[in-house]
Amino acid sequence: MNLVFLGPPGAGKGTIAAKAKDALNIVHISTGDLFRSNIKNETELGKVVKEILAKGDLVPDEVTVNMVKARLEEDDLKEKAGYILDGFPRTVAQADALETFSKLDAVINFVLSEEEILKRLSGRRVCKSTGRTYHIIYNPPKVEGRDDETGEELIQRDDDKEEAILNRLQVYQKSTAPLIEYYRQKGLLVDIDASKSPDEVLQSLLKVLK
Ligand code: AP5
Repeated sequence: MNLVFLGPPGAGKGTIAAKAKDALNIVHISTGDLFRSNIKNETELGKVVKEILAKGDLVPDEVTVNMVKARLEEDDLKEKAGYILDGFPRTVAQADALETFSKLDAVINFVLSEEEILKRLSGRRVCKSTGRTYHIIYNPPKVEGRDDETGEELIQRDDDKEEAILNRLQVYQKSTAPLIEYYRQKGLLVDIDASKSPDEVLQSLLKVLK
């Protein structure tokens, strides 16, 4: 089963994908995580995209499409029952490109108010080495400021600072929101209420996929 998770920043796409991938035996591919891993490892791609991510702008389509295409050709995909693309496509050009090399079964649209998005993003904390995500109120770590498993210090993502959050929301409205209609017209779009608890959102997702 090949899925796209679509939705504004902070809607919970990554949180639900991390749970759904095991329930569905599919691979979770987050373009944001792939870019952040390149930045952390100081690769050539990482150097190109570092400033773009910090500001909350979009990485150019060609760079992003090539990265996703290469990722979908990796061996782990052959052993699993499909994938979740989390954060891709984010423009109509990316969606058109995806159609040329893979076929989707459904596009899950995470629906959440802007007020709740701001609360989720400003309270998000992440472990830099494992990528594990917390929220200071909704999903706090066992020990304040520390990763549950490694004990490492949790950080705030550069793009979770106020100025970058506002820019990401504008970029989402301008470039990504048009994909809702794009996929609705193709009969692939399924809206999900993302305001419930993570377990409830997961259950709604599994129910609609059945
Ligand atoms: P990316 O990492 O994809 O950022 P995003 O889409 O803005 O998504 P987020 O990771 O911020 O949010 P999320 O929906 O996954 O929410 P999460 O589960 O963490 O992309 C980063 C950047 O990379 C982009 O800005 C761009 O520069 C670049 N990029 C990526 N893809 C690209 C593309 N295709 N083209 C061009 N550039 C691209 O949850 C958020 C918080 O809420 C967490 O603290 C979590 O604990 C909490 N939470 C989650 N669910 C719930 C819930 N149900 N109840 C309560 N709290 C919850």
